[in-house]
Amino acid sequence: MNIAVFVSGKGTNLEAIIAAVKAGTLKVNVSVVVSDVKDCFALTRARNANIKTLTFNPKDFKTRIEFDKVVIKALEEHNIDLIVLAGYMRLLSPFFVNKFKNRIMNIHPALLPSFKGTQGIGDALDYGVKVTGVTVHFVDAGLDSGPIILQEALKIKDEDTEESLAERIHKIEHRIYPEAVRLFAEGKLRIEGRKVRSKL
Ligand code: GRF
Repeated sequence: MNIAVFVSGKGTNLEAIIAAVKAGTLKVNVSVVVSDVKDCFALTRARNANIKTLTFNPKDFKTRIEFDKVVIKALEEHNIDLIVLAGYMRLLSPFFVNKFKNRIMNIHPALLPSFKGTQGIGDALDYGVKVTGVTVHFVDAGLDSGPIILQEALKIKDEDTEESLAERIHKIEHRIYPEAVRLFAEGKLRIEGRKVRSKL
């Protein structure tokens, strides 16, 4: 199975996936890492692991559809079976999502449908919830709204700061994201409407 990992930032989830592949617990081929930010650290991680990288900046294209078509063509050339969004800070268009229907995953640092958007960790802390967590879900055309694959909760402590909470959230992410990709690769995920059944 060929996967493409989409990144915009630090790439710690990419690193966790690479580590799982190296350890042999995740049997996929990370064919390409795609970014919209040419100098993000995630690309350095990919290069260090000898993984091909591609950068596409939407600003270099006249229209969204042109951008989408170029990215889709590159993915098709690499025979990509699954797109793994790992800190990719862009909403995918309905056209793009439709091309890879039920073959795009995302990880979100909160318990969806709570605290959607880019500030999931801080928003949960500011709201004062006592429990937050991590969600891995399939991507549909909405914002953080597709069918949920895996979730794990953690308790917020009175003394938590955004940094301390983020540290615990990321630890969970790095464990459950490779796991979700593994379930997909082994054909163990079945989508029924909003529900994802996993044959474990
Ligand atoms: C993670 O917290 C993920 O939940 C969110 O973006 C962050 C990416 O971190 N979607 P990294 O680039 O994988 O370190």
